[in-house]
Amino acid sequence: MSTCLSITNLSKVYPTGDGVKGFSLDIKNGEMVTLLGPSGCGKSTILRSVGGFIEPNEGLILIDGKEVNHLPPEKRPSAMVFQSYNLWPHMTVFNNLAFSLKLKKVKKAEIVEKVKWALNLVQLQGYEKKYPTELSGGQQQRIALARALLLEPRVLLLDEPFSALDAKLRHELREELREIQAKQQLTMLFVTHDQEEALSISDRIVVMNKGEIEQIDTPQNIYNYPASMFVAQFIGKMNFLKGYAQGEKINIGSLAYPNLNHYNGNVTVAVRPEDVVIANEIENGIEALTEKVMMLGHYAEISLKTDFGKLKMFVDRSDISQFKMQQKIRITFATIQAFPEDSNVHKDGYSKILNLTKEEIKVYEKA
Ligand SMILES: Nc1ncnc2c1ncn2[C@@H]1O[C@H](COP(=O)(O)OP(=O)(O)OP(=O)(O)O)[C@@H](O)[C@H]1O
Ligand SMILES: [Mg+2]
Repeated sequence: MSTCLSITNLSKVYPTGDGVKGFSLDIKNGEMVTLLGPSGCGKSTILRSVGGFIEPNEGLILIDGKEVNHLPPEKRPSAMVFQSYNLWPHMTVFNNLAFSLKLKKVKKAEIVEKVKWALNLVQLQGYEKKYPTELSGGQQQRIALARALLLEPRVLLLDEPFSALDAKLRHELREELREIQAKQQLTMLFVTHDQEEALSISDRIVVMNKGEIEQIDTPQNIYNYPASMFVAQFIGKMNFLKGYAQGEKINIGSLAYPNLNHYNGNVTVAVRPEDVVIANEIENGIEALTEKVMMLGHYAEISLKTDFGKLKMFVDRSDISQFKMQQKIRITFATIQAFPEDSNVHKDGYSKILNLTKEEIKVYEKA
């Protein structure tokens, strides 16, 4: 597949020193790529640079092989959907959608057809005569999406388009967006700081931290093989334990795993709660003390204390009755990831997102 959007060595540093440094990314035709990262990591800066709303200090932006750096937003073959819907309040839905087509001098009959097509795509057939104030937030965002689609962009840019909506609507709309994207073979650069959203709808995810790329990969690889401590902490729930690397092995007590990166000495071992399993009689396992059980619907989260740190384990609903509090059990890990020892790990060993505000951490912990 050929490259649609190519960003090379993009830098935009604001007077405060914040911004984006040396960002490069190629997006293929029909691909949906998500920029994911905590607040202030530079997601909007990249999107706005591609859309032409910000002038980068450095870097090359190509769409279909043509440089667009010097073009104003309206001349670029891209369209942007913002978090706030930006519909014109004094215009009907029809006029909001028809605006760009009228500018292009498209014939009236064709405009009517196209508007109908776009409303159909976002499941708002027959809404032509309504005004934005008569629509819910989700409907307004659908109209904003329809308006962007009518520009027939080569690249559709979306900056947290659903973040103002409630959780249920957000789920619905992101599924719809994914369907539209697949159906229309759209090339899309999507921004979110919601990791679940990124994991669920992207072909590839770019995890960003403080203006730089931490990892670019498929959702599955990002989840299974986080490339850095930051990614391991940021994506999904993760336990962090103390391990020791020597020769071919990484040891956590009596447990041994391959030392693929040839570390030496103390390491931080990352284990997903679903990869913590009860040891069978042959495996020795490490000792753990059950401290707390939290029911979470179809599964429970059991808090454990070990000599290597505290951790959490997911247990199926049907198996919960086997566990008593303050019980000694033996566990092993289905798979682990190891990182050079990191003093930033929260002292209770459980995943904490380090450079977020308390409110943001609460949001992530709920998710
Ligand atoms: N116009 C500006 N002037 C100065 N600094 C800015 C400006 N715009 C953004 N920044 C800073 O640049 C950094 C990146 O901002 P950006 O808006 O790209 O982050 P973001 O990842 O989109 O965050 P959020 O998730 O909160 O939207 C932040 O530290 C921000 O404070
Ligand atoms: Mg932003």
